[in-house]
Amino acid sequence: MRRSGAGRVTELRRLLAEHDRRYYELDQPSVSDAEYDTLMQELRALETQHPELITPDSPTQRVSGIVATGFTPVKHRVPMLSLDNAFSDEDVRAFDRRAHERLATDGDIVYCAEPKLDGLAVSLLYEAGVLTRAATRGDGTTGEDISANIRTIRSVPLRLSGHVPDVMEVRGEVYMPLAGFARLNAQAAARGDKLFVNPRNAAAGSLRQLNPQMTAQRPLAAFFYGVGFTQPALAAAEHRQLLAQLAAWGLRVCPEVQTVNGVDGCLAYYRQLAERRPQLDYQIDGVVYKVNRRADQETLGQVARAPRWAIAHKFPADEAPTTLLDVEFQVGRTGTLTPVARLQPVLVGGATVSNATLHNMDEIERKDVRIGDTVIVRRAGDVIPEVARVELEQRPRDARRVQLPEKCPVCASPVIRIEGEAAARCSGGFSCPAQRKEALGHFASRRALDIEGLGDRLIEQLVDAGLVQTPADLYRLELPQLSALERMGEKSAANVLAAIARSRDTTLPRLLLGLGIPEVGEATALALALHFGSLAALQGASTEQILEVPDVGPVIAAHIRAYLDDTRHAREVTRLRSEAGLHWPEQAPRARADAGPLQGLTVVLTGTLQSMTREAATEKLQQLGAKVAGSVSKKTDYLIAGAEAGSKLTRAQSLNVPVLDEAGLESLLAGRRPRGPDRPA
Ligand code: IVH
Repeated sequence: MRRSGAGRVTELRRLLAEHDRRYYELDQPSVSDAEYDTLMQELRALETQHPELITPDSPTQRVSGIVATGFTPVKHRVPMLSLDNAFSDEDVRAFDRRAHERLATDGDIVYCAEPKLDGLAVSLLYEAGVLTRAATRGDGTTGEDISANIRTIRSVPLRLSGHVPDVMEVRGEVYMPLAGFARLNAQAAARGDKLFVNPRNAAAGSLRQLNPQMTAQRPLAAFFYGVGFTQPALAAAEHRQLLAQLAAWGLRVCPEVQTVNGVDGCLAYYRQLAERRPQLDYQIDGVVYKVNRRADQETLGQVARAPRWAIAHKFPADEAPTTLLDVEFQVGRTGTLTPVARLQPVLVGGATVSNATLHNMDEIERKDVRIGDTVIVRRAGDVIPEVARVELEQRPRDARRVQLPEKCPVCASPVIRIEGEAAARCSGGFSCPAQRKEALGHFASRRALDIEGLGDRLIEQLVDAGLVQTPADLYRLELPQLSALERMGEKSAANVLAAIARSRDTTLPRLLLGLGIPEVGEATALALALHFGSLAALQGASTEQILEVPDVGPVIAAHIRAYLDDTRHAREVTRLRSEAGLHWPEQAPRARADAGPLQGLTVVLTGTLQSMTREAATEKLQQLGAKVAGSVSKKTDYLIAGAEAGSKLTRAQSLNVPVLDEAGLESLLAGRRPRGPDRPA
């Protein structure tokens, strides 16, 4: 007989939680997806009829409809530590020797060996068994509240089963299973969207969504490997038992976890896992060894931010031999020709590689790479695959030298090679379609003119349709032209036009960056703007005067001068101002800095800021007269620490330098000088 109302609701939740557990944790589902969905629908219907019965741990509540504007900081009750790395057997033996010395023992130490999961560390707070909060690691002390996003992960229990501590922070890693990653990228490719570089980036991006409905669509999972604060303390005497206890409560523990004897057991585990790595459904970048006895862990304690009782033994970068079929040249934003190796496809570190970068002609000569050679391809973590070296003994007789083309492969303009520079460039400038597209993308990018919605695909369409050649053309676009493009609705066309219009109101550093002068990145653009104060002053400056700008050397100065002297560029700049209507504040920089309310202050920025980029903060602080330095010293007045702050924070604390959070930064930007805790202002 079916119970109704409250009783049935509780029963349905229990059943659904049990099915989730069988499915995600035990991998032994006992009902079909359809049966599961029927139970979920019944629960939804009951909750709709009786909204008073809805509780936060109900499985219907995984996906919240609330879109956040930011993530609230969360202080971890017990800091989240990081791990020291070992790169060789000898490093691991040294770690084991140190543990023996500190524990004053001769016999083999028992370790718990675990995969080092390549995802994102999270801390989940369970109160009375109910998930009440989830946070990122952040700087180890303070993370960000990502509760709404974590709740969407079906393998994370909203309520633990059994007798659980009153309060417990559990630590684990959120990751994207490889199959889900492949599916996600296949979908993105079908839509013509940008692909995720790797599962780790995809998982990170998914967890940082402000809209949990987006996160809910991403295939995420989690494994748990430890605890932070618990009240009362857990009884487990061994780390392995603690993990078993977590699993019994419903938290997924990686099935590859094993206890091993002594350092030889560790190294054997490492080798067997390295071999099995291609078969795992998740990315790992090494192995973690943890002293198994928790009392021993306590004795060993920690140094700085890493425990003395655990170490990560990293896998080396992956390498594989293959044949170099050809070398092609890609044309970048400033015309740079980058040689790309076309390879016989080869499996390296879990991915098929058929292209790899050869960087530039100097590299090709240094490595003596020839077409037809057997080359060793290397791929490490996030990094683009590269040709590491050539197997010279295997060189075929007919191997061909790589020739730098005389003409641009895209527009056939002459290729030039500047003395003292590794890069060869196409001399076509804006007349080269490849450069045009790259230059437009750069102009529209977030740190330059920041035109939202103007992505690579749209630029490609605009250039191919002959609607846009240079940035100034963007400001002449009209709604009918845009909305006539493929896959472009009236609404998105209007949005893009609005974003283009908004970008008219800009700043000199953004404009200078957006112009795409070779070698001028964000920092140089800012330095130029601060030094000259106006575009006219920069245009009128001699190479010697440009050399006076901090951090600008002869190569950059020559590029800037050559860029400004090119009549095509001069014309473009004029068009941007008079025709396109771009405007930016210009003033004599010295006067501004002297009068600034933060005159005389030295500030250092570290970590990730929420409200603005570090570069934007630097720009604003400098405009107010502050000096922004790269490292902390006794002369530093304030360290501004965002999330994931690292060694600079530690150093500031040891030197007693006042540390400000983002609220403190806001005060500074408002022209106030916050008082540090231990020093008079
Ligand atoms: S334990 C007290 N175990 O590695 C030690 N960490 O460098 C704290 N990680 O932030 C971490 N797999 O994101 C531990 N089996 C594992 C791990 C693991 C991956 C990550 C974690 C942490 C980083 C430390």
